[in-house]
Amino acid sequence: MLIVGGGVAGLGLALQLPERLSIRLLNKQAHTHSSSYLAQGGISAAIGYGDSIASHAQDTLKSGLGLCDSDVVHAVAEAAPAAIQWLQKIGVQFSTNGEQSKGGLQLAREGGHSRRRIVHSRDRTGQAIVDAMRRQIKKRPSIRQIDDTIAIDLIVHNGKRSAARCLGLHALDNKSKTFISYQARAIVLATGGAGKVYLYTSNPQGASGDGIAMAWRAGCRVANMEFIQFHPTCLYHPQARSLLLSETLRGEGARLLRGDGSRFMREYDRREELAPRDIVAQAIDAEMKKSGADCVYLDISGRPADFYQRHFPAIYRQCLRYGYDLAKAPVPVVPAVHYTCGGAVADLNGCSDIDGLYVIGESACTGLHGANRIASNSLLECLVQAQHAAAHIKRRLERGAPLSEVEVWDDSRVSVAPEKITIAHNWDALRRLMWNYVGIVRDRKRLQLAQSHIRTLFEEVRRYYARH
Ligand code: SIN
Repeated sequence: MLIVGGGVAGLGLALQLPERLSIRLLNKQAHTHSSSYLAQGGISAAIGYGDSIASHAQDTLKSGLGLCDSDVVHAVAEAAPAAIQWLQKIGVQFSTNGEQSKGGLQLAREGGHSRRRIVHSRDRTGQAIVDAMRRQIKKRPSIRQIDDTIAIDLIVHNGKRSAARCLGLHALDNKSKTFISYQARAIVLATGGAGKVYLYTSNPQGASGDGIAMAWRAGCRVANMEFIQFHPTCLYHPQARSLLLSETLRGEGARLLRGDGSRFMREYDRREELAPRDIVAQAIDAEMKKSGADCVYLDISGRPADFYQRHFPAIYRQCLRYGYDLAKAPVPVVPAVHYTCGGAVADLNGCSDIDGLYVIGESACTGLHGANRIASNSLLECLVQAQHAAAHIKRRLERGAPLSEVEVWDDSRVSVAPEKITIAHNWDALRRLMWNYVGIVRDRKRLQLAQSHIRTLFEEVRRYYARH
């Protein structure tokens, strides 16, 4: 059994598989570099007084602009309270205040949600969950974590009469620079999104869409990749390209301001700062284009001194490091790429178009998010899909899915790049291109230009590495 990705989806799945099962968990980078670990806001779950599964589902559907799969939305909303209980059972400490929910959990508010619904661990929810999961993983000797290893390509058998079946995958051990070909009865991609193909993003370095691309190359359908979500508020500072200022700040009353101090969100949506992300990001983009300003401002100043420590200790500290005191003045913000709503097509069990290949978390497109993911449904999707996938994989293994021999990686037609500058240049060109031509607001002309530039880049890369 092989899992690629050490975020909440991958770790959550490993923990819910039978204890005796031997599991290898490949990690491209250190666990602190996953999008899950960086997640600030939290997990949405209808556990507050007066809240309901139907209301959670309704808000999700509305935010997804008619493109969600309604059955998936209802199933995920329904599974949310149990997912929170499971996390508490494995040791996750959520923020409490004893008033807003039966279990005493404190609930935050975020855009698109009609009420307080976000279970969180101050402003470091992802870290609290990943740390608790890793503590549990340490107690499970059957789970072997293999770090610094990059999955390259899936190994798929395409029979003449039988359906395509995934047998394993090729990977690069980045420490020894050697290739390893893994065989497994079930292969799971939990590799996250593709935000790093944009110049400005809240995503970590590793979010380069590898899993989605591997699934695509192997013959899986990929859907909704045009729905890249921009988070409205990343700190605008040359050295802090990916510092997110959580939406929960706006949930606690933070206001968006123009350079002259005036508010603008009410000109775009009656929900003002708590409209869904796509609306807020587009409004900021329009304001910046209108005025020619480089940023807008987020203001949550003037609260009692302990407010910042109680709600946003990490964000407060990080902003101070860049010279901004949230308590004293508005801070400059810009939208940045945050989440890949599309991905490899998979159901809630993680089943993809290829037998034996599962795709879960941000790399999957289950139909939960539609055109625009509502806040704090992403960690939730990871948990619910991991739980369903664990049950499905267990049944698959009990049926006796065979382990097949796999071919070794053939690098005979690829040359080793003599220098890194070309790779760095191509990455930079791609990221700028995506930011400038495939940004928040798009038109046909710019998309066509982007397509033609990307084809040229693709051909350049192919020729550069080819060994004739
Ligand atoms: C945030 O804290 O604003 C991000 C939460 C999310 O992406 O759902």
